[in-house]
Amino acid sequence: MSKKKNMLKAFNFVIFGGDGDLAMRKIYPALFCRFVEQQIGGDFSIIVILRDEIPIELLLNKIKEKIIIADQKISFDKKTVTDFIAKISVILIKKHTVKDYEPLANILQKSSKKQDVFYFSTPSSVFVEICDTLRKATIVKPSSKVVLEKPLGNSLATFEEINTQITKTFTEHQIYRIDHYLGKETVQNLMVLRFSNLLFEQSWSSEHIDNIQITVSENLGVGTRGAYYDKSGALLDMVQNHLLQLLCLVAMEPPVSVEADKMRNEKLKVLQSLRMLTPKTVLKNTVRGQYIKGKVNNVKVNSYLEDINKYNSNTETFVALKTYVDNWRWKGVPFYLQTGKRLEQHYSEIVINFKPVKHNIFNSKTKVPNNKLIIRLQPEERISIVQMTKIPGPGGYRYKPTSLKLDYLDSFTERLPEAYERLLIDVLRGNQTLFMREDELRAAWTWIESITKSWNKIKQSIVLYEAGTNGPRDSVMADGDTWEIHS
Ligand code: BG6
Repeated sequence: MSKKKNMLKAFNFVIFGGDGDLAMRKIYPALFCRFVEQQIGGDFSIIVILRDEIPIELLLNKIKEKIIIADQKISFDKKTVTDFIAKISVILIKKHTVKDYEPLANILQKSSKKQDVFYFSTPSSVFVEICDTLRKATIVKPSSKVVLEKPLGNSLATFEEINTQITKTFTEHQIYRIDHYLGKETVQNLMVLRFSNLLFEQSWSSEHIDNIQITVSENLGVGTRGAYYDKSGALLDMVQNHLLQLLCLVAMEPPVSVEADKMRNEKLKVLQSLRMLTPKTVLKNTVRGQYIKGKVNNVKVNSYLEDINKYNSNTETFVALKTYVDNWRWKGVPFYLQTGKRLEQHYSEIVINFKPVKHNIFNSKTKVPNNKLIIRLQPEERISIVQMTKIPGPGGYRYKPTSLKLDYLDSFTERLPEAYERLLIDVLRGNQTLFMREDELRAAWTWIESITKSWNKIKQSIVLYEAGTNGPRDSVMADGDTWEIHS
């Protein structure tokens, strides 16, 4: 990858929740990789905000450990690590009061020409207090930006509440609501695949497409995040954001350009066209599951209840659902979404199932299997087209589905930057294209609530599934459709 020398203006990067899991796993490694690539350098500082006292050496060592192991494909020397760590300063803020924010205000005032980015890597329940105090302490400048981690609230009402309060301090142009799926190279490639290849776009509608399946399958359990996860479940943790964003990119109309609002206007229209679920339709169109003990990759694993240390929980660790985008282009095409933890495989994939040919000239009795476009997002980045091919040999026409594969790695040998690298650089550059606007989130929450409210109303029960299997999925399938599973 070509080195991009100090292309970014001087900045202060303030991380609230700077000792948390997300900061350690994603934020520091992302900033470090951009530092190694010399896209950030020179005049910048990272200010870590802590709530509880931790010896600074311990914290810095932990950060060092994380950045060193983050990406094996990037090379750097010891001095680069030392130089990066030297950019970090630490401030203890026990309470959200103007007084406690004074040390932060002082540092930022000393470098008032730099742009300030405030990254809220804390639960969204404290976003409002942080914003209010930043405002009261007159720390926020017109050039400041705020990055908000998901989930923004846990319902439409809490989203509105938090959003209204945040917008008292920051304008929409200063707010960057993160969905890290949008930062993934392969997710961005979806846009290029769709809108730079006439071949696909010509057949991208209910005329030619039978159904679309979006799967994010994880074999990990809830790990140490049980307390958070048990209040969210798979629907809020994954569908409300990542899967809906993927659906938007698949279903949206071509935007005029990739400029932020042009893109976001089109995604919003998709979200607003999603068919609401009701207490009458929810049981047939959704399934909620929870893992019990089983084996993943031949290793015995605990049940969800054991993982979260509880006797009872009604939280789903798996959800599959069928929905429709009720507009001209997608009339009658089911979109199947599924995601879950402790499933057999770890992969994310979008499968576009085309309609079968109109008439089978080879054998009128059998149905020709349909074409598929399979977009594999992770762990490998690959696009395959499943097409019918003649089986060689005499004796008439026999055919079978074969795959044409394009592996990203075959065409691109460079290291693919992590999603957070791209997103953090976009924040610093002021590019909001890959961030969600408030109306998108409002529409997403509205649709999600049609599901949660219906589930509550009919008390839709949880189906238990053994860890290491594909989860309970089939009940939401329309007649004749089956889930695609690829390895
Ligand atoms: C997060 C969810 O947003 O995305 C996690 O909170 C999930 O539960 C993760 O594991 C999946 O992200 P990725 O990039 O590993 O597919």
